[in-house]
Amino acid sequence: MKRFLATALSLAMVAGMASCGGTETTDNTPVTNSNNNSSSSDTNNNEGADNSSSGTKTVGIAMPTKSLERWNRDGEYLKEQFEAAGFKTELKYSDNDVKQQNNDIQGMIADNVDLLLIAAIDGNTLSQTLSDAKSAGIPVVAYDRLIMNTDAVSYYVSFDNYTVGKLQGEFVRDELKLDSEDGPFNIEFTAGDPADNNANYFFNGAYDTLKTYIDSGKLVIPSGKKTFEQVATTKWSTDTALENMQNTLASYYSDGTKLDVALCSNDSTALGVAQAITSDYAGSNSPIVTGQDGDIANLRNIVDGIQTMTVYKNVSEEVGVTLEVSKAVLNGETPDGSLVSKLSAEATYDTSSYDNGVKTVPSYLLSPVVVTKDNLQYLVDTGLYKWDSSNKYLESTASTT
Ligand code: BGC
Repeated sequence: MKRFLATALSLAMVAGMASCGGTETTDNTPVTNSNNNSSSSDTNNNEGADNSSSGTKTVGIAMPTKSLERWNRDGEYLKEQFEAAGFKTELKYSDNDVKQQNNDIQGMIADNVDLLLIAAIDGNTLSQTLSDAKSAGIPVVAYDRLIMNTDAVSYYVSFDNYTVGKLQGEFVRDELKLDSEDGPFNIEFTAGDPADNNANYFFNGAYDTLKTYIDSGKLVIPSGKKTFEQVATTKWSTDTALENMQNTLASYYSDGTKLDVALCSNDSTALGVAQAITSDYAGSNSPIVTGQDGDIANLRNIVDGIQTMTVYKNVSEEVGVTLEVSKAVLNGETPDGSLVSKLSAEATYDTSSYDNGVKTVPSYLLSPVVVTKDNLQYLVDTGLYKWDSSNKYLESTASTT
């Protein structure tokens, strides 16, 4: 039904409503809202699977929220792939609520899960809970987002987050031909949630790539907002990104100033920014709008020319790598660089980039890919997307999105 809705924003709002309305998802997970302070959870008892000498192991999976599209896919793939490998899973979504995520993880510790996979809502708020996990002998793998200020995290599996931003910056550089054109061109940045350690990496990757052109005056930021703090978007909210962009357009562009680029760190923010440009931008050009993830509404906007690109991260492969790392940990091994050649997806082993304040967390990093309207078929070829009945837009093949 979603695909018949007219605008990208309404798509986002419907997704948001689905996450708040007490509806059930296709995996029969009851979806709850932040008001009732409960989480959605799903435990699968994969009876009969025997994965080690001590019997079937249970993996506790803590996801941040159902209201941002990608985590629905992550949750589904994690559950599917771990269960197919013979594990039981306990999957919790914590409604972007830090306290709830702590409670949910405490619940999984009490349930004696054998391993915790955590995509933190706020990487700085889990230290005590993870210290409890450590005391209970439960290893922790940080999934996609680094968990800060704890020695209880064993591994980090993610994409090369700096490269995500770098690809966005390089895309802008190439589209505007910054090395040969005189400019000046106008750009505005929209970054992610300060609580998410990834958000800085994305912003820095993009900003560092464009800095030389900003410094030389070829790229101008009319709003003057050039630090991460000035352009961050709490909780990666589409609505907040929309409002911020509307304010920027009203304050700096209502006199006819041309906007050439809206550099957005991800798709949920790009959705709001693109909506603000559609409704509030006075100019007649279509600014370049960047994103990240390959969310369905954004892919639709790419087809419609409202967003220009997204940096795609194959979440199914991220899950595959996480599975291999987790299996090794659960087998009592200490995975290192030698695991890379055995992984189902290409990844690098990094032991220097991700310092969480207490330790440098050994990391397995996958590579992101630029997607524009010219290579959407790439997504179909992954098997994770398909063309819709009109053959114009993409749908996810995952059942939850
Ligand atoms: C993820 C991005 C995602 C963002 C908001 C980040 O931690 O790496 O893929 O767009 O969170 O959900």
